[in-house]
Amino acid sequence: MSKKSASKKTPSKSKKPRIAVLGGAGYVGLVTSAGLAELGYEVIAADLNKERVKRLSKGECPLHEEYLPELISRQLNSKRLSFTSDPARAITNSRVIVVAVGTPSRHDGSTDLNAIIEAAKTIRRHLKPYTIVVIKSTVPLGTVEMVSDIIGRKHKIGKAYDLASVPEFLREGRAVRDFFNPDRIIIGADRARPRQVLKTIHEPLLKRSHAYVSNEKASTIPLILTSIKAAQLIKHAANTFLANRLTFINEIASLCDRLGVPIDDVVEGLGHDPRIGQYYLKPGPGFGGPCLEKDLASLIALAEHYGYRAPFLRAMLERNRSQIDELYRKVRVMAGYPLHGKKIALFGLSFKAGTNDVRNSPALKMAKRLLSEGVEVYGHDPYANKQAGSALTEIKIGTDPYKTARHAHLIIITTEWPEFTKLDWKRIKKLTTKAYILDTRNLLNPKQMKRLGFIYAGLGRN
Ligand code: UGA
Repeated sequence: MSKKSASKKTPSKSKKPRIAVLGGAGYVGLVTSAGLAELGYEVIAADLNKERVKRLSKGECPLHEEYLPELISRQLNSKRLSFTSDPARAITNSRVIVVAVGTPSRHDGSTDLNAIIEAAKTIRRHLKPYTIVVIKSTVPLGTVEMVSDIIGRKHKIGKAYDLASVPEFLREGRAVRDFFNPDRIIIGADRARPRQVLKTIHEPLLKRSHAYVSNEKASTIPLILTSIKAAQLIKHAANTFLANRLTFINEIASLCDRLGVPIDDVVEGLGHDPRIGQYYLKPGPGFGGPCLEKDLASLIALAEHYGYRAPFLRAMLERNRSQIDELYRKVRVMAGYPLHGKKIALFGLSFKAGTNDVRNSPALKMAKRLLSEGVEVYGHDPYANKQAGSALTEIKIGTDPYKTARHAHLIIITTEWPEFTKLDWKRIKKLTTKAYILDTRNLLNPKQMKRLGFIYAGLGRN
């Protein structure tokens, strides 16, 4: 990977269509806005979160995300990127509107589409013909059609507007790299005009002509032109397939624990089979974050709506939720029962390394479980202390990992931050009450930890 120098010539303002991004201060919206600006488009990112818009307009990036702060500053300076809390201002005069608003889960697992509906109504009010509306938020099949119905009450499809589904596959922590080096680009459009315009918009990526963070080794990027329906399902199916791999490998790790077989050897043995591949096979505390579980639950709800129970998908969801019980079983053995009054230190609070996002974080799920047993829970994260402190006030959060470890009966590695491998574990051993480590990410070197005198347990590593 190389980052092209900031002084490198970037495309000048031209007759390229102005793009509005609704939900432009959220994860996907922000990366998309800054990325499209880097590709030479004039982008106006609208978001109802006024505080975020204010901060972003000053060049303050609210997310811990590699390359993103520099990209935002660079594009604010180029004047191609701007932020507003007034969606009408963004919509009027933009020829393409990208909808990247949040689509959270309801209690029953179905998707809450309120933000999408509101966005559609706002577009209907302010749309100037001809505009292409692109749905980038992850939505259940049928949503784009619903948006079309809303806009279609005032405007004529094909004449005043067209719709498309262009799903996003960004991973938090490497979202900018993913934006410029996508594994594929999916354009779901049922008419030739939006298909052609969107193909042209993505051309710099397809040709790799303006990659801010380029991957020299990468081959051509496949472009999949498909229907709106298929594009929506591809996104859901992709996240569900990833969830499937993680559920599978956590199941094998649990078996490894009971059979005394090292999971690392099993993963290596599996990964060399090209039909399986080596990626996305790290056992962990269960998939977390704002996407995988939500999308799996949403697909189940969609299947149910169409009269199909989807037993396989349900089993995945259930197995992932029970991963915390698997870990808890180990906690009880290691910290000793009863847990009440014991001190347990959590190393890592974000849902994975590379991000300060604590939404649906396995670390916080574990913290809640321990707190309910009367455990004194201490926590430390290199980047997500503030976010975790606001999400769960009962954790005693510290910025110094050594203080967090002091007098602990058990340290649990909950996030795979590389920073933890560089800590002075010899010093930590002296600080703890009991030198016990439960490594739910298989991050540390078990032999080294044992040599230092720790009782170490990972997943499928005992
Ligand atoms: C996921 C998908 O990977 C993206 O392609 C997609 O665009 C995104 O959701 C989305 O729909 O917006 P993300 O949620 O950022 O991206 O995170 P992942 O890297 O996929 O990790 C998800 C969870 O799986 C995390 O809790 C992570 O710790 C866990 N994981 C991941 C493992 O336990 N083991 C692994 O080998 C990989």
